[in-house]
Amino acid sequence: MKIEFVEKDLNAVKADFELIFIEAKSRKQLNNYKDFFKLMNYKGEGVCLDSANKRLFVELKGLNYEDIRLAFFTAIKSLERLNIKSIKSQSVVGSCVVRSFACMAEGIGFANYKFNRYKSEKKSSTLERVLISKEEINAKKFSKEEALIGLNRGEILAKACHFTKDIVNEIPQIYTPLKMAEDAQDLAKIYKSITCKVYDEKFLEKEKMNAFLAVNRASAYPPRLIHLSYKGKNAKQKVVFVGKGLTYDSGGLSLKPADYMLTMKADKSGAAAAMGIIKAVVELNLELEVHCILGATENMIGGNAYKPDDVLISREGVSIEVRNTDAEGRLVLADCLSFAQDLKPDLLIDLATLTGACVVGLGEFTSGIMGNNENLKNEFYEVSKKSGEYACVLHFNPHLRELIKSKIADISNTSSSRYGGAITAGLFLDKFIREEYKDKWLHLDIAGPAYLEKAWCYHSYGASAAGVRMCVNFLIHLLRKNK
Ligand code: BES
Ligand code: ZN
Ligand code: ZN
Repeated sequence: MKIEFVEKDLNAVKADFELIFIEAKSRKQLNNYKDFFKLMNYKGEGVCLDSANKRLFVELKGLNYEDIRLAFFTAIKSLERLNIKSIKSQSVVGSCVVRSFACMAEGIGFANYKFNRYKSEKKSSTLERVLISKEEINAKKFSKEEALIGLNRGEILAKACHFTKDIVNEIPQIYTPLKMAEDAQDLAKIYKSITCKVYDEKFLEKEKMNAFLAVNRASAYPPRLIHLSYKGKNAKQKVVFVGKGLTYDSGGLSLKPADYMLTMKADKSGAAAAMGIIKAVVELNLELEVHCILGATENMIGGNAYKPDDVLISREGVSIEVRNTDAEGRLVLADCLSFAQDLKPDLLIDLATLTGACVVGLGEFTSGIMGNNENLKNEFYEVSKKSGEYACVLHFNPHLRELIKSKIADISNTSSSRYGGAITAGLFLDKFIREEYKDKWLHLDIAGPAYLEKAWCYHSYGASAAGVRMCVNFLIHLLRKNK
């Protein structure tokens, strides 16, 4: 499906169907169609179909970016069952023109996502084109260039999110660490500017990545360390993303109860997000050097499984007492963060579905932002708000740090208290961040929003690509700031 900007008024655009947005605040639009709305008992909430005139009225709650994304999503979703090829629409512009157009494209794009690989009957939409006219709902004027930049950015972001969602939604039977490595290599085949290196268990042994290897031990599949890289022209900054790629987390010997194990195919969401991010970075031609370090493995049970009571010597040389094998993500990340710091990043961001505690604390819609640099965390938070993702800064403190001390090793992989688990997990990772990178590091716990058991707003059931839009928007923000 294509989204096109048309430099004409809505009446001059030809299409099978038309969208008309009804702004919640403005009675004016309601008055324009007074008789029809009276007949339909429509007061401007949700959608109202006028099939005789081939148009759909869609509620626009306001001009915030989320309102724009939701309105376009709702419109396309409401029409997906109709046998139409093209839809035309007015444009809706909030405070920034480029971002508003990006939001229109994101809303349309998200409405188009489907994971139906395992459905015998695939209901596919006939829609081929969405035409967005230069006619703005409040007659705002803007340039064609801004509209095109925004639409392009939104389409790239939506496609990157689809890519990430497909990885996360894929079943654990198919999506093994080897499959993740294949997908990463395919990225490098499709985009000539991406390089992909895949490292096997022998390399991990040589690199002394014993924490990562321990998690993998009882799996039928070998682990993979995946390194994707891209260097844009004039790149002055190096950003390294590290992704938790647990293709399945059974909990290991500290086995998860049955109903908590369900959805743990989504424990690869951090790695999948990092892959989506680099795809978007390349398509947007960002003038940055970007690397992704992905730790791909399963966490399973068996006679050779790593055990609570084990002590592991990580790549950084820090010894770790294993008190719970279900706190495996931080073990994989500890070694991946170590590897990532050897690349000498200017900015280091890890993405992980790390803790259930983060979901308990912040709810299912919000990611946790952690790190040592107040300005960096706050800056990231401000960008996340505009990106369409909810995030919240969780602050470290020395008292929580006390809780991950071990009596027999340098650190314990679990906290001695049941409270504050998202932050103690962040503090565990901090132990593996070298002094010179302390202020350059952000930890994003995406456990809440990564996988949705119930659709909400413009997100469908299943993977949501949490992390992709906020990180790409942050990179765009970095470039603008340093211009
Ligand atoms: N992958 C889970 C965290 C998770 C929970 C992600 C719910 C998404 C939804 C992680 O590996 C885990 O199991 N963490 C434990 C840590 C605990 C044993 C210290 C948790 O959060 O319970
Ligand atoms: Zn776990
Ligand atoms: Zn996990």
